[in-house]
Amino acid sequence: MALSSKNQLLSLLLLILSSCILIPEPTVVSFNPSIGITYSRHPTSNLPRPDRVVSTLRSLGVTHVRILNPDHDIIRAFSYSGISLLLSISNTYIHAMAANQSQAVQWLYRNVVPFYPRAHITTISVGNDILTSSPDLTASLISAIRHVHLALHDLGIRKILVSTTLPFDIITSPFPPSAAEFKKPAAEWIMKPILDFITTTNSSFLINAYPYKLFRSHPEVPIGYALFQQNPFNFREDPTTGVQYRNLFDVMVDAVNSAMAAMDHKGIPVIVTETGWPSDGDVNEPEANKQYASMYNVGLVRHLRSGLGTPMRREGPTETYIFELFDEDMKQGPRSDRHWGVLNRNMTMKYPIPFSGSNRCFVALLKQMVVSFCLMFAFLV
Ligand SMILES: *[C@@H]1O[C@H](CO)[C@@H](O)[C@H](O)[C@H]1NC(C)=O
Ligand SMILES: *[C@@H]1O[C@H](CO)[C@@H](O)[C@H](O)[C@H]1NC(C)=O
Ligand SMILES: *[C@@H]1O[C@H](CO)[C@@H](O)[C@H](O)[C@H]1NC(C)=O
Repeated sequence: MALSSKNQLLSLLLLILSSCILIPEPTVVSFNPSIGITYSRHPTSNLPRPDRVVSTLRSLGVTHVRILNPDHDIIRAFSYSGISLLLSISNTYIHAMAANQSQAVQWLYRNVVPFYPRAHITTISVGNDILTSSPDLTASLISAIRHVHLALHDLGIRKILVSTTLPFDIITSPFPPSAAEFKKPAAEWIMKPILDFITTTNSSFLINAYPYKLFRSHPEVPIGYALFQQNPFNFREDPTTGVQYRNLFDVMVDAVNSAMAAMDHKGIPVIVTETGWPSDGDVNEPEANKQYASMYNVGLVRHLRSGLGTPMRREGPTETYIFELFDEDMKQGPRSDRHWGVLNRNMTMKYPIPFSGSNRCFVALLKQMVVSFCLMFAFLV
């Protein structure tokens, strides 16, 4: 058939346009979880300057960065970068901030007010891992969180959300995920006020979740299960829900979802503030190696980008931060503790991670274009 008139051409164009707009995606909603990296300011000398770090992150396509113990030089470097920032206030401030709101105001005057909104700060975590690494500060935590939140409001900043970063060992056991709970007695006196605060302020639940550490403490877990190696026989069923879990990361995230649900808080967005895999270790840490680190981080990015979420929640974690940018040479402890970095000092990657890989929106658009062309073809014959 030939197009004999302008009218026919016009109706053809209309058909293509309307098919683009009206045909719904067959797979319901597509979630596009954000993937970032943790950037720690640590005492190691000769770390690259923050502005060099920012331009490298941009060229790698990293859109989200979590800054651990930030200072103003680092935050300033992210101005106009378009990169979203999650700032984690150092635990050393918690006690003073809990006692006196003006300490929180002072911190914000140094680290947020001069740069916001040119530096795109979205979330502030009051402390990191307090319950395990500084348990003496636990009693101060909730007042410090409230004071940072009130201080932001007093400064007229309403869009920055406030939360705190919790360690995974606040959970009883993630096996099976549906039975997970927060450990007692922390559940009642710490988790309840934190969850109430997060719910009333529409904030997120921040958790550090390391399949590497869980794998190390559970020798019965196959390594492939921790490293996102999908194969048909490699799953564990949750006996209560009958749901199949194909990787340890989902097990951990859903354990968090269950623990929150058990305290009547459903639907709180989860941000995985730390996860990753060490690329080197002591002789008794054979799984800490570059090959496995690459398999974990590449598998993680692919899994998140699939948009499938976790078996329990389709939206999955809203943001996930790989730990971390550079190795921490000065850190004490096992050799693996000094080798979580994904970048070498000369700013090359230890192994490639596809941060800027195709996302689902693009795939959805491509699908729609194919459908429209099929329709056009049908119309022509
Ligand atoms: C809170 O801190 C401010 C500034 O450091 C100080 O002026 C004020 O006296 C403190 N308030 C209390 C109750 O300690
Ligand atoms: C939280 O979100 C709900 C629904 O989106 C909204 O109605 C409410 O005003 C928000 N609350 C705050 C404190 O932002
Ligand atoms: C960067 O550093 C790594 C590790 O030290 C090294 O293997 C690599 O060859 C270096 N690359 C360049 C371009 O200097």
